[in-house]
Amino acid sequence: MTAKSEDARRARHAELGKLLSSLPCPEALLCARVGDATDVAAVTAMWVSYDPVIVAVYLRPGMRTHRLVNEGRQFTLNVVDEAQNPQALLAGSIKGDDPKKLEKLALKFEPSTSIDSPRVAGAAASYECRVLKVAACGDHDLFLGLVTGHGVRDGGKPVVRWGGHSRAIGAALEGPAVKYPH
Ligand SMILES: Cc1cc2nc3c(=O)[nH]c(=O)nc-3n(C[C@H](O)[C@H](O)[C@H](O)COP(=O)(O)O)c2cc1C
Repeated sequence: MTAKSEDARRARHAELGKLLSSLPCPEALLCARVGDATDVAAVTAMWVSYDPVIVAVYLRPGMRTHRLVNEGRQFTLNVVDEAQNPQALLAGSIKGDDPKKLEKLALKFEPSTSIDSPRVAGAAASYECRVLKVAACGDHDLFLGLVTGHGVRDGGKPVVRWGGHSRAIGAALEGPAVKYPH
């Protein structure tokens, strides 16, 4: 690669980084268990459908969690609580091929009610998901998860990603509460 094309690549990545970090997203820990193998990755996620409840996650091919979700067709999506943020960022920086990954993360797990993959204890909310559809989307694969069980922790403090940082949710703005479905 020439110095000029390297500069162009860096400029493109800086532009994309700014663009992508301008869309606030919930920060979550995805947990997948297949047989004896359990792995956790930091992800961002979105709602797709209210009834049935469906969520979307996007995983890079080659990641261990991508492989486990593809194999097991189920995963939990655990909304990161403020108290868990350091562990979530660590989960986002350690690859699944590190045999000490789970030990380093020191997360606690709880059994799910409807699938093999466990919930992450202490999460602000947990969604048990069965894979409904997978679609190749640019440099990630999109997984749609049908929510078959859930738990929402009273007093949970969900974390969002924005501007390249994990953030606490701020005060509600003026206006009427909007109830679902709208
Ligand atoms: C805050 C945060 C959000 C992330 N979101 C995603 C995501 O949505 N999709 C993805 O493929 N990787 C995402 N990552 C990167 C993965 O969590 C990271 O590559 C992880 O080490 C993969 O683990 P694995 O190899 O065990 O699957 C994110 C990382 C961080 C820190």
